Amino acid sequence: MSKKFQNYVSGTWVDAKSGKVFENRNPAHWDTVLGTFPLSGKEDVDEAVRAARRAFESWRLVPAPKRGDIMRAVGDIMTRRKEELALQMTREMGKVLLETRGDVQEGIDTAYYAASEGRRLFGHTVPSELPNKFNMAVRMPVGVAAIITPWNFPMAIPTWKIFPALVSGNTVVFKPASDTPATATALVEILVEAGVPPGVVNIVHGGGSEVGMALVEHPDIDLISFTGSTSVGKKISEVASKTLKRVSLELGGKNAQIVMDDANLDLALEGVLWGAFGTTGQRCTATSRLIIHEPVYDKFLSMVVDKSKKMRLGDGSDEGVDVGPCVNENQRKTVDSYVQIGRSEGAKVVAGGTIASGNGLSKGWFYEPTVLADVTQEMRVAKEEIFGPVLSVIKVRSLDEAIAVSNNTMYGLSSSIYTQDINNAYRAIRDLKAGITYVNAPTIGAEAHMPFGGVKETGNGHREGGWTVYDFFTEWKTVYVDYSGKLQRAQIDNS
Ligand code: UN1
Repeated sequence: MSKKFQNYVSGTWVDAKSGKVFENRNPAHWDTVLGTFPLSGKEDVDEAVRAARRAFESWRLVPAPKRGDIMRAVGDIMTRRKEELALQMTREMGKVLLETRGDVQEGIDTAYYAASEGRRLFGHTVPSELPNKFNMAVRMPVGVAAIITPWNFPMAIPTWKIFPALVSGNTVVFKPASDTPATATALVEILVEAGVPPGVVNIVHGGGSEVGMALVEHPDIDLISFTGSTSVGKKISEVASKTLKRVSLELGGKNAQIVMDDANLDLALEGVLWGAFGTTGQRCTATSRLIIHEPVYDKFLSMVVDKSKKMRLGDGSDEGVDVGPCVNENQRKTVDSYVQIGRSEGAKVVAGGTIASGNGLSKGWFYEPTVLADVTQEMRVAKEEIFGPVLSVIKVRSLDEAIAVSNNTMYGLSSSIYTQDINNAYRAIRDLKAGITYVNAPTIGAEAHMPFGGVKETGNGHREGGWTVYDFFTEWKTVYVDYSGKLQRAQIDNS
């Protein structure tokens, strides 16, 4: 019997009102059911939002340093449970243990950062234009936040959103991806154990069109923080605009690594393999294009092909495995259909290109790490987000062309250049149209205390991570204190 999980609403673990459930399966062994979760609907969302709204009135009055103390306790519990959480995550979404440990670590880092932010949440004091008057701007919580998260970073991404939301004094209704409900449930258990009061965090499991959209439409939700596809992000933005909700969107990417002829090629090789095939290519920061400078194209391509073919595919909980499965059947179908599209567009499949069927792989959603060579910028495989282990390789003749090709996409999340020439590096930093640029490092590997987000259709201008996410989760209150004992009229009495 697999374990039955529940929603957490107003401090109580409950089933969906409909009584319906869905299954959570292991993508490396699809006949293993890990648990069942409530298939919730609008009525469950309504109750969770009511609970969060009620709890907001007292949570907003808890001193921020005290809210921060709870985040410190969260970090401590996560640290203690790190290995177990990583293993559970590998089982439910497939990426290798090394990476699921990193995912949990990102959550721990975010918890300790949030704990310290409870003692900052800096505002501004500014001189008044009038005598005997004091001006300041302070941060206020916004209200009830809907947190809608993907399956590829099932711990890190929810923590990027939930921890700053809570430290800032907001309450939360959390809708995790239905591919990774167990990690999300563990996160809520940890928050509860650390002392988050009833109603402050609620989790409602279920599908995006039922639970997610009910949150987006809900008149009593003030904030929405979403990470996922650009098409869903646009829909959320459109629907949420009807009630003027504040929306933070972290969407797709088509990130490129540039390798110039003066690069350290061994370093660039390690970088591209990690960037392209880490998390089975299922990161919005994944390296899905490799742009190689002509003089080293043949040499570097053959280095990449050689190593890609040697990557070990398998169950991510086996320590010797490099690449886990795709998260589910649909994702693998998408990957395979893109490889077919690439072929028909004239790209050459020089590594992988097939569903993996070797020993122990037949019951998982495995796909061979795939390299498509001779890709041109016009091809769909050079433009569209694939979200799988597929690397499109493009040849360029100069740095200018490399930058132009890298920028030739509707997305703008991450970017990378390998070069030993400082002039190349700084030109790339200036001209790459992306929220993140790495020099001599792959397109993945953002640190939790730095701004994270992208330009163009990767988002709507907000940043997660670090200090910047607190701008999203707080509202400015401007305060004037006049201690002159008389009416002083701004713009009039000081002229
Ligand atoms: C994502 O893929 O949505 O920089 C997040 C990275 C990770 C986060 C990725 N720290 O690749």
